[in-house]
Amino acid sequence: MILPIVAYGDAVLRKETENISPEHPNLKDIIQNMWDTMYNAHGVGLAAPQIGKAINLFIVDTTPFEDEKYPDFVRVFINPEILEEWGEEWEFEEGCLSIPNIRENVSRPSNLRIKYQDEEFNWHEEEYEGMAARVIQHEYDHCQGVLFVDYLSGLKKQLIRNKLSNISKGGARVDYKMRLPRN
Ligand code: NI
Repeated sequence: MILPIVAYGDAVLRKETENISPEHPNLKDIIQNMWDTMYNAHGVGLAAPQIGKAINLFIVDTTPFEDEKYPDFVRVFINPEILEEWGEEWEFEEGCLSIPNIRENVSRPSNLRIKYQDEEFNWHEEEYEGMAARVIQHEYDHCQGVLFVDYLSGLKKQLIRNKLSNISKGGARVDYKMRLPRN
């Protein structure tokens, strides 16, 4: 089921999320709904807070990037924890389904190691680099209540202030359904 994506300005996007157990109610449905919602909006990642749930869970599908290193990178990350980040910081123009029509350069380390549980709640510890790492870092941030616009300079923030305010009032033009802030 396609769900509306929570727009910038909602408090749920600022919450530190909680880890979940295999008994979490309707978990299978939540994950399926997140896939449906992400693909409908042509995203490469989606975190649970973006559908209004403050739980530590995100999904990733970077196949549109045609990254040779990770050609079929489609994953559910449950209770993820980034253990280490290293490598050269590189800039990439990020966007976010909760912050439509704004894209800005964000600098992040190239490599990371993450531990997480899969849908069967088995633990994994893996290393990623490049675009796969980038998407993980962005989605992981969502689960800490952090958004990519937080990394912008004061001047850049000033320049997009009106756009952000417009998004939080429902003024963004998007081809997917959004949920206005409920604070
Ligand atoms: Ni995002």
